[in-house]
Amino acid sequence: MKSIFDVPLSELRRRRSAKWTLHPSDVLPLPVAEMDVRLPSSVAAALHEAVDLSDTGYFGDRGALVEAFRGFAARHWNWHIEPGAVTTFADVGVGVIEVIRLLTRPGDGVVIMPPVYPSFYPWLDQAGVAAVPVPLVERERGGRIDLDGVERALRDGTRVVLLCHPHNPFGRIHGPDELRALARIAERHGAVVLSDEIHAPMAHPGQPVHPYLTLGEEAAATGIAFTSASKAFNLAGLKCAVAVADAQRHVLTRLPEQVPWGVGILGMVASIAAFTHEDSWLDRLNHSLAANAALLRDLLAEHLPGVTFPEPKASYLAWLDCTALDLGPDPAQVFLERGRVALSSGPTFGPHGEGHARLNFGCSPELLEQAVVRMAGALP
Ligand SMILES: Cc1ncc(COP(=O)(O)O)c(C=O)c1O
Repeated sequence: MKSIFDVPLSELRRRRSAKWTLHPSDVLPLPVAEMDVRLPSSVAAALHEAVDLSDTGYFGDRGALVEAFRGFAARHWNWHIEPGAVTTFADVGVGVIEVIRLLTRPGDGVVIMPPVYPSFYPWLDQAGVAAVPVPLVERERGGRIDLDGVERALRDGTRVVLLCHPHNPFGRIHGPDELRALARIAERHGAVVLSDEIHAPMAHPGQPVHPYLTLGEEAAATGIAFTSASKAFNLAGLKCAVAVADAQRHVLTRLPEQVPWGVGILGMVASIAAFTHEDSWLDRLNHSLAANAALLRDLLAEHLPGVTFPEPKASYLAWLDCTALDLGPDPAQVFLERGRVALSSGPTFGPHGEGHARLNFGCSPELLEQAVVRMAGALP
């Protein structure tokens, strides 16, 4: 079978997205969270149809999008969502920022679990709140939520937890018991858990994701989940995301009126097609991602034996522990300058990011091999 990542480098270099334009053309780019796939066929067809109709006005009725997402959630996660529980945003970042603004006062804290997706930090700044870091523990084994640490932070007055589920950059799928325990803690302290589930559709084969809101009464009482088709189907530039809440639905009804309408109409069109018609494409993607993770482990063992990463259970991110190479706090700098391979800098992920780099393996096996060979060649 042809690889889902079988897109020639010459074609990728013609893309105008961030991944393919932020570095000079002699650099292999493996940082920005985009994948080197072509659009699934029904998504491309839906977008072509919209363009042919010049259907490029404002986003309007969201009913079809909500239905498509509800169907996807029921099939993939056995998650049965009431239509009125869903709202829309231009993207997950906008949703999280706007909801934090409603839940906090300027200067309040929000728990995050570093090392974590770097944009969480500017999101919190934009919402006018402070990060309260409760680092994941057992990081070398893929990480685990420090439940005692979260409880301490909530006892000290923090009222919002921003969860990354699955966790970027570890690719960890938080376990259902752990999330239930988090929900009990949140409920005990009157806190809200914002669960960023944008990577959830990309669970590797045999690795079930339990969306936070499916995990019982306390989770339903405390959770607001955010997700999108944008990561799994590579639609990030099209701007379409959803949020779901149960008991916290009243928060979503207080959003500034224009916020849910910020969705791009092409994002809606593409997301409806992806959520409705592309289960088998997604299945193929997830098999390819698991195969790429295994390939990366073999390539590192062969060319860069000091570098390890916790086994990702979802998505296309590998959190490389480069400390054994002694390349200083930011190994990505060394790989870029000397190897012409771009990775994401570990320190931008916050505490415990030093000595690490994040690699995006959502690319062809050939490109992955070239990148690792170049990284090995960059060593002093
Ligand atoms: C955990 C996580 N949340 C959110 C985003 C960005 O989502 P959006 O473009 O919808 O704001 C990313 C992108 O990589 C991500 O990894």
